[in-house]
Amino acid sequence: MLAVFPKITVFENLEFQPPDAILGIMALFRADPAPNKVDLSVGVFQDEAGRTPVLQCVKRAERRIIEAQDSKSYVAIAGNPGFNEAMEKMLFGAGHPALEAGRVSSVQTPGGSGALSVAGHVIVRARPAATVWLSQPSWPNHLPLLRLAGLELAHYPYYDFDRHRVDFDAMVETFSSLGPGDVVLLHGCCHNPCGADLSPEQWDALADLFADRGIVPFVDLAYQGLAENLEADAHGVRVMAERVDEILLASSCSKNLGLYRERVGLASIVSRNADEAAITRTNLAQMGRGIYSMPPDHGAAIVSCILHDEELTAQWLEELGEMRERLNSLRRTFADQLAQRGADVDFSFIARERGMFSFLGLPREQVIRLREEFHVYMVESSRINFAGLNRSNMDYVAGSIIAVLQ
Ligand SMILES: Cc1ncc(COP(=O)(O)O)c(C=O)c1O
Repeated sequence: MLAVFPKITVFENLEFQPPDAILGIMALFRADPAPNKVDLSVGVFQDEAGRTPVLQCVKRAERRIIEAQDSKSYVAIAGNPGFNEAMEKMLFGAGHPALEAGRVSSVQTPGGSGALSVAGHVIVRARPAATVWLSQPSWPNHLPLLRLAGLELAHYPYYDFDRHRVDFDAMVETFSSLGPGDVVLLHGCCHNPCGADLSPEQWDALADLFADRGIVPFVDLAYQGLAENLEADAHGVRVMAERVDEILLASSCSKNLGLYRERVGLASIVSRNADEAAITRTNLAQMGRGIYSMPPDHGAAIVSCILHDEELTAQWLEELGEMRERLNSLRRTFADQLAQRGADVDFSFIARERGMFSFLGLPREQVIRLREEFHVYMVESSRINFAGLNRSNMDYVAGSIIAVLQ
């Protein structure tokens, strides 16, 4: 007689997952027929014409690669060695003592997200009871991504929403009760979503505190070169790698090279010494192997080609400078416009913060009014992407904000 099994399907217990909030706002924006609509919710850089362009240095590198490429065979589990080596130099600075001592091990990953994931999995393997502390607020994907790796997560205070600045005292107070087994995720520069960065002096103080207490920093550097310049934006990573025994770093070429869809990133771990780094390297590679087997090659090949060629590097630095100057000048002009229009609120923080994002500090009702009455779209937290502004819409956006504030 055949056994009768109850009819249970594999997927029947799945529950509907709400779409990403930002994607929902983008869909509303697309459906809005108003000719003067403005989208400040997007997560990518845009030029004055609203495009997210392929950089010229990238186009040139791609032509060279396509010409020379004679195989699509796998490269390596750790990715393109030329990319890894050039990225390490760019991130830590050529001649950094941690590089010279052989303390750094890295693998190429699918984007900065892949780097966060691989590094997160390595933490779980090395110290399953570790807690990773996220800034309040942080990039919304940090939480699900690191939780999926199996990590215990907690939050530390970071942004003072009333004063629009880093609440350094509150941060230090929290960190002063942490110790070995605590990993603190810090945004290297251009904090997403608040735009408020640590000063070099604050990084130095944290490096000393972490070294003293045995706290491990995990730096997410997704915007190197988009705040001040490549060197200044890496100050935090560099001082941590100098003064602290162990650090993790997740970096990305999505924004500073405009390679978003190519998925280019690097996961690095700085160990106490070269022997431990050699062991860590095998774990980083094995973790990538277990998650996606091999990282995608095209984007990393482009970055390697650019960083190994003086002329292409010079062109990239110029293009990166243009992106950065666009963001910083939009910030200055927008803050001026709001002040000139007699805003009751002090928006001068906009010009002090860095990168693509800041919170305007508007309550939800005003964000909704901006969308429904003025066709100006932003995330409900009032986080805006400055790259969505341009010479023709800035006046209108500033006027709309003043109108909802009254
Ligand atoms: C803070 C932060 N980290 C990491 C990433 C990951 O970028 P990607 O995976 O596209 O390289 C982003 C992207 O928006 C980000 O803002």
